[in-house]
Amino acid sequence: MLNKAPQVTKAIIPAAGLGTRFLPATKSIPKEMLTLVDSPIIFYVVEEAVLAGISDIVLIQGRGKAAIEDFFDVSYELEDKLAQRGELAVLDRLNRIKNMANIISIRQKQPLGLGHAVLCGKPIVGDEPFAVLLGDEVMVQKATEPSVTKLLVDNFCRTGLSSVAVMPVADEDVSKYGIANVEPMDSGVTNEFHIRSLIEKPKPTETQSRWALPGRYVFDTQIFEFLEKTKPGKNGEIQLTDAMAQMLLKCGMRAVAIESRRFDAGDPLGFIKANIEMALLHPELGSEVKAYLREIVTR
Ligand code: UTP
Repeated sequence: MLNKAPQVTKAIIPAAGLGTRFLPATKSIPKEMLTLVDSPIIFYVVEEAVLAGISDIVLIQGRGKAAIEDFFDVSYELEDKLAQRGELAVLDRLNRIKNMANIISIRQKQPLGLGHAVLCGKPIVGDEPFAVLLGDEVMVQKATEPSVTKLLVDNFCRTGLSSVAVMPVADEDVSKYGIANVEPMDSGVTNEFHIRSLIEKPKPTETQSRWALPGRYVFDTQIFEFLEKTKPGKNGEIQLTDAMAQMLLKCGMRAVAIESRRFDAGDPLGFIKANIEMALLHPELGSEVKAYLREIVTR
């Protein structure tokens, strides 16, 4: 019997967090719907997944997050009006958004943690490998560079091992992330590592590593078994990093260092930076935004 080459066609996007760092805005707007230039954060996250060959997006939603689903759905009245007015360019853009992927929503009834959110996707993902992209993390790279998720999918398909993105962080930022203790590959490849251990949000003195997990993963389906056994950890939440730490001891795991600029758009400062970055890259707005930024820094 021929072994089928592994394929990653599904992605879980956890978007059920409370977004407390972005209150009061997130009292009534899901943080994933806050806008970067002219599209919500979640659009860029789904686009990254689609560029990696993913066709099915499993959105993990909480209460008050229906606007996310609506964004990827048909809007008859609006589309009809745009067609009548002959506004075909914008209509075409809306059509591309609603056709970019199959969106399947699942409720996480209580925000019990990122690990629990990923486990909520199990009934849809079944026994296939899948990607996880945090719904409030945005990656920006040059148009000629592969997306972070594409790098991870390629790594998984080549090695058969769960593959996660890592990025270097400063000492003062270590306690904000899951941190990976990594070892170089024998091959001498410089952007890929074996992961030896993982720890969630350690103090800088608790680990020598400065390799943080920025919220992009591709997992073998076995991760679900480990998630099912994971007890609440840091902040009383079921932590994805804790399940990964157990999984890597049995199955191995790879880290892939990313070169993309990454923004935590679920935090006001990260959101402002992401907006400036995206605005500068915008084909129509970029040069005016640049001129404006130059002007205000000299004031
Ligand atoms: P965060 O910790 O960044 O999200 O979780 P949060 O809890 O919404 O943020 P703050 O700290 O209160 O501002 C990372 C990702 O995991 C999702 C979040 O939606 C976010 O995309 N998440 C987190 C869930 O889906 N469910 C959870 O129980 C926790």
